[in-house]
Amino acid sequence: MRVATLLLAWLLTLQCQRTAYASQLLGTTDAVYRLITRVLKQNEHPFQLHLVGSSSASSAADESSFRMEPKYFELQDEGNGNILVTGSTASELGAGVGWYLRHYCNMTLGWPSGGGSRIVIPDQWPSIGSKKVRKTRAVPWSYFMNVCTHSYSLVWYDKQDWEQYIDWLSLTGVNNIVALTGQEQIFYETFLALGLNDKDIRSWFNGPAFLTWSRGQNEYGSNIAGPLPKSWMADQFFMQRDFILPRLRDLGIIGQLPGFQGNVPIQMRDIFDDQNITQEGATGWMDALDPIFGQIADNYMQILLDAFGTDHWYQLDGYFNGGTAPWMKKDPHNNIEYYHDHGYHDYDESTKLSHNEDWFRRGTKAFESLNRTDPKAIWSFQGFAFIGWNSPDQAEAVKGFVDAVPKDRFVILDMSYSGLGEWTKFNNASFFEAPFVWTALHNFGGTDGIKGDIRRLNHFPHEFLSSTSIAGIGGTPEGINQNPAFYEFLFESTFRDGPVEDLGDYLAQRNMKRYGLAGVTGDDDNVFIIKYHLSQTWKLLMRSLYSNDFSTQDFTGIAHLNPGRNNLFEDDRYTPKGLLCDTFLAWEHMIQAIQKASLEAIDIYTILKNNNEPFRYDLVNLGREVLAQLSTPAAKNFTDATSQVGPNEIIKSGSFYMKLLQDVDDLVGTDQGFLLGPWLESARKWGANETDDCYTEILGLSNCANFYEFNARSQITTWNPTPKDSKSIPGGPIDYAAKHWNGLIKDYYIRRAADLLGRAIEDKTAGRPLNQTAVDELFASHAYHWTTSTNKYPTTVQGDAFETSIKMYEKYRHWFSTCADRTESKIA
Ligand SMILES: *[C@@H]1O[C@H](CO)[C@@H](O)[C@H](O)[C@H]1NC(C)=O
Ligand SMILES: *[C@@H]1O[C@H](CO)[C@@H](O)[C@H](O)[C@H]1NC(C)=O
Ligand SMILES: *[C@@H]1O[C@H](CO)[C@@H](O)[C@H](O)[C@H]1NC(C)=O
Ligand SMILES: *[C@@H]1O[C@H](CO)[C@@H](O)[C@H](O)[C@H]1NC(C)=O
Ligand SMILES: *[C@@H]1O[C@H](CO)[C@@H](O)[C@H](O)[C@H]1NC(C)=O
Ligand SMILES: *[C@@H]1O[C@H](CO)[C@@H](O)[C@H](O)[C@H]1NC(C)=O
Ligand SMILES: *[C@@H]1O[C@H](CO)[C@@H](O)[C@H](O)[C@H]1NC(C)=O
Repeated sequence: MRVATLLLAWLLTLQCQRTAYASQLLGTTDAVYRLITRVLKQNEHPFQLHLVGSSSASSAADESSFRMEPKYFELQDEGNGNILVTGSTASELGAGVGWYLRHYCNMTLGWPSGGGSRIVIPDQWPSIGSKKVRKTRAVPWSYFMNVCTHSYSLVWYDKQDWEQYIDWLSLTGVNNIVALTGQEQIFYETFLALGLNDKDIRSWFNGPAFLTWSRGQNEYGSNIAGPLPKSWMADQFFMQRDFILPRLRDLGIIGQLPGFQGNVPIQMRDIFDDQNITQEGATGWMDALDPIFGQIADNYMQILLDAFGTDHWYQLDGYFNGGTAPWMKKDPHNNIEYYHDHGYHDYDESTKLSHNEDWFRRGTKAFESLNRTDPKAIWSFQGFAFIGWNSPDQAEAVKGFVDAVPKDRFVILDMSYSGLGEWTKFNNASFFEAPFVWTALHNFGGTDGIKGDIRRLNHFPHEFLSSTSIAGIGGTPEGINQNPAFYEFLFESTFRDGPVEDLGDYLAQRNMKRYGLAGVTGDDDNVFIIKYHLSQTWKLLMRSLYSNDFSTQDFTGIAHLNPGRNNLFEDDRYTPKGLLCDTFLAWEHMIQAIQKASLEAIDIYTILKNNNEPFRYDLVNLGREVLAQLSTPAAKNFTDATSQVGPNEIIKSGSFYMKLLQDVDDLVGTDQGFLLGPWLESARKWGANETDDCYTEILGLSNCANFYEFNARSQITTWNPTPKDSKSIPGGPIDYAAKHWNGLIKDYYIRRAADLLGRAIEDKTAGRPLNQTAVDELFASHAYHWTTSTNKYPTTVQGDAFETSIKMYEKYRHWFSTCADRTESKIA
């Protein structure tokens, strides 16, 4: 009996895996060969690739894995170190090649900004030893990207940028992303055919830097920095159809396409005389139960599939913020508030759990509008909508969706930004057995900040394989250009055999490779000492910033005059907390390493200094982080002074704050990851060709390059654009997507502080309280002028990263004098 049960369980597991793997894309070896040549920038490489495919009887076929082994034949003909890489799809081949380049050649493969790459061809391709190396995915899917990533990080990507990015995805083993580019053209055609007019549709889309929010993910209003130019829609459409999707598919990476989820221009209500469409902001929301929903979905799906083909995955979840689709907030039949219910409900397992019928019907309709057109459709749903849900009613609602869709065809992206994730809801219900992809939601708005709980990543997926329906791991950061160590660790975990035991040691060793020092040996004490310092840096980072998930946002004083949460200084605004001490000490060790190297180990100095973006990025980034933390109490002192004390105190605190920001501006100007110039230039490039369709109210009919630059500048500052002569900056997520960038700090944040300082002194001298109305006007005027300007910023680094870092360290170290007594013995 028992044996039979076990056998059955085993058979079921196998069955389960088959379905899950069946939809993986095969891709081609040629695509991976071409990728290798691109990445190494030369034709010579050690790889021979072998694609097994999932239908083959070979041993790699039943699972998703790659295998590396020395190639025993033809050794004489093919030079040294021949590596045969066998993969079940092109994605595993890419992952295998990436693994070899990172772990054996000690390369760094990253994003051009946000860490960079270090690709140094070794004299001899390293041997992998005499044994086969075999890595199998613990879960079938490695997923990346948040719907917002397209706006915060990828919006200005040209073909070359996409190429590099997709190469990175492949070498990292990512095999599933959300592919949202170019969808506006599809929606435009769908809506136009239904009778909406050109202007209403293009206004509804917003400007190019704000597309995420018409795509259904939050609705902060319509026509933000828009309307969307037709030329942009066409360019993006071709990028997706002719480049992004074919390249992804060749490399075995699934691109989830956007489904129709019910968010429409509000004018649709009149066209169909459909009072069931509710309004939220300037958007209409159509319930999946509305008969018109299915009609529109069918038209849309037809155009979508004709244009892009499909990998059968669709992302469909217009309720990202929960507060969007009005029908979701209140159940019309039994008056249940579904969202914004953060009250504690003791969910009791003994409650008989049936599903909510309305949700079941709604889920059925939503899924049918996918599978009527694509019978193989898989519905991918962003589980962020469930954050805060914990009542039995809500459990029944979730279960309604799950039950509405055939097993394995409804996949939830569990977007965890605190705790273990949403699967733990309702007594670890694991979404009632629906497969889910556990993702770390690590960043909001693409802000800077070193952070993330790597200890938590280390649990996934291994510890939850048998107890949950986990089907993948991944990341859903809103912006990608930060914390490369975090993402690298995350994506390798599915190929590891289990959790890493000593994380501090692991990171220390891994980063020695990233910096190109792993292969450097010598009897010399200097080598030992320099490596010791850099190891300490990473051990300290691991026990401080990388053991914390304090915030996905930037709350420091750089972009915030009234910074709030997560202050790493004590209430005296003077004494750094232990966590910040560790951060400072990590920086100090890096400084000591470069000082030692410059004086006594010129070989190492040369390695660190030349062509070593990963090292330079870490050095500058760590200094930036320490000074940004100091800017928080500095900003608080300054803003307090403007309303409380005499002019001298205002000048003193204000000038300290502004000088500190100027120093951060200078420091970050020495690394390419923190420059404003490239962001603006990449936006302007989209307006290189003369077109006459770039109009937005604030600029009028304009040159397209200026229009794109305006979008780029607005996104990272006021978000909602500020019209001329405004009394204040319009509401919205102001400074939500702020950046610690050279040029932006100097001309936007410091200038803003200077305006405040001037006004505060004037009022104080006249014996008046600070006139906040006047300050709001000044800020609005500054915002208007800065966002509509087109002055140029450097696109290449200014100054020397090493010298500037040492200078800043010397200048500010006294703030951290109390850190000296934190013994380091605890770290090692
Ligand atoms: C509106 O909703 C009601 C109730 O669900 C339904 O009977 C009616 O057909 C809908 N009207 C339209 C125009 O969709
Ligand atoms: C389409 O989805 C519905 C709702 O889940 C389901 O009942 C139906 O069997 C599906 N059709 C196909 C062809 O899979
Ligand atoms: C849910 O799972 C987590 C992780 O395994 C565990 O720590 C926790 O106790 C579980 N909670 C319940 C209610 O079972
Ligand atoms: C890579 O790092 C290892 C240490 O893990 C070292 O033995 C080897 O020499 C390095 N190889 C290269 C090419 O730097
Ligand atoms: C803030 O003000 C307090 C009180 O004057 C002072 O002790 C502290 O050093 C100031 N902090 C900063 C960062 O300027
Ligand atoms: C500008 O036009 C050229 C030539 O037609 C085309 O190759 C290029 O992609 C266009 N650039 C943009 C940004 O549309
Ligand atoms: C505050 O400033 C505004 C705008 O400059 C001005 O209209 C108003 O009179 C000022 N209020 C006071 C009390 O000075």
